[in-house]
Amino acid sequence: MAVVHDFEKIDSQFYQPAEAFFPSYRGLALTYDDVTLATLYSEILPRDTQLDTTLAEGLELNIPVISSDMDTVTGSRMATAMALNGGLGLIHYNMPEREQLSEVSRVKNHVHGLIQEPIKVAPDQVIGEVLNLIEKKNFSFSTFPVVDASGKLVGLLPSHSVKQRYAKRKVADALMSRAQVHTISTKELGANPIARADKFFTEHPGIHKLLVVDADDHLHGLFTMSDVEKIMQEKNAQFKPARDAKFRLLCGAAVSATRNAFGNLDRDRILAHVGALAERGVDVVAVSTAHGHTKGVGETVRMIRDAHPTLPIIAGNVASAAGVGFLAECGANVIKIGQGPGSICTTRIVAGVGVPQLTALYVASRAAQMKRVTILADGGVTKSGDIVKALTMANAVICGGLFAGCPEAPGQTMEIAGKLYKQYRGMGSFAAMKAGSAVRYGHANGVTQKVAPEGVEALKELSASVDGILAQLIGGIQSGMGYLGAANLAQLRERARFIRVSPAGMREAAPHDIVEVKTGAQD
Ligand code: XMP
Repeated sequence: MAVVHDFEKIDSQFYQPAEAFFPSYRGLALTYDDVTLATLYSEILPRDTQLDTTLAEGLELNIPVISSDMDTVTGSRMATAMALNGGLGLIHYNMPEREQLSEVSRVKNHVHGLIQEPIKVAPDQVIGEVLNLIEKKNFSFSTFPVVDASGKLVGLLPSHSVKQRYAKRKVADALMSRAQVHTISTKELGANPIARADKFFTEHPGIHKLLVVDADDHLHGLFTMSDVEKIMQEKNAQFKPARDAKFRLLCGAAVSATRNAFGNLDRDRILAHVGALAERGVDVVAVSTAHGHTKGVGETVRMIRDAHPTLPIIAGNVASAAGVGFLAECGANVIKIGQGPGSICTTRIVAGVGVPQLTALYVASRAAQMKRVTILADGGVTKSGDIVKALTMANAVICGGLFAGCPEAPGQTMEIAGKLYKQYRGMGSFAAMKAGSAVRYGHANGVTQKVAPEGVEALKELSASVDGILAQLIGGIQSGMGYLGAANLAQLRERARFIRVSPAGMREAAPHDIVEVKTGAQD
């Protein structure tokens, strides 16, 4: 009679762990769609899986997803949304350093549920102007704090006064006076502002807005009861926001290996920049370049490590074991893997260089284990199944294209032939390099037409918000883990077994031979 052991033997001849599978394809570079994962006996329900990942000491995420440090992907809004979902955003560096510092501060000072810069109106405006503003900006609310020219609170314009019939009346004639408005001082907020606001709303039935003022009665924020209620419910959510020891959201920022007019690394400028980021509370800096296995990147990492012994450093990009070893020895904790897989990348076409992502990850992961550093799968992720495959070797993924269509990505929404789009461009595209990222591709600033771009400028259809996109991605990752009987990411890495997929197998994997009427994802 056959025993379990015999069946496992049959399986193991076909489905192999990474250490056996990838070396057997030594001469062939593979990427996500080239392989699939085999299922295993499971007692794990997808909803019970844990997705937390430790990238470095003091850098723990609750989901293994990071938004790319690209100028059409991550500014403060994206980084805030990523951290609120348990992930991380890396704020790009195609902006003046001062501006990047403010962007980091915005994330670090974000109090979930407290609208720190509420839309205000002035007492001498007419209601008609307020109605126009609501229409123009498509606001879904119509209650506004009223402040004078110095920012001092004058009252609150309630939604029942913001009506067409009062269009010609002044805000001053329609507001609830200062004495009627409920406020709390910044000092009273304490360590847990949301709990404080929640208590206030419980103690004051019928009041739905609470304004925050300083000692001089200047407006500093607004709580709404519906936001606070949502957050109190989220307390039980499985994936909590990613926060630092002081309960602030996590935030990363990209830094470049800037050179001075003589072509040498601009040591003073790089250290001043990183020092200022650290002062603002940045949780990790990313030395982001197209080629990380270089003297310049190595020296930059070493310089930052010497100046900031405990600051987590991400560095890259590389696609080789030697590259990982080099950056780890220079002091990086987390290494970005990916040369040419990105959806807007043309490095492989322009330079003839790069490695398909799964093989690159396997090779890099061997070195990462030896050097005790973690790795990020950067670029080429187009669906949750890719993330599951990436996480069998990497500690988290970096995504650009998947988030570039979100309302939280920088840039305006544009309408073309009745459809809504957002811009998405490679940091090596001509336009992005002109805006500052040339150094990342080894060019001096002030790019000319002679420089060969390694990225394209493109559009993404406007997508759901970051919350919606991440909900789909996380659901997919959890399904994958359930199929493999993996309760957490360490078990996913241990249990993954691969097999190569033929082109016909790839066709079979997507919906086929049907007329699709609704996509899998919810609209
Ligand atoms: P996805 O596939 O998520 O890729 O859109 C995002 C990643 O692509 C890298 N990147 C580039 N690579 N030329 C390149 O060769 C470029 O212009 C470029 N811009 C971004 C980067 O690693 C990013 O996270």
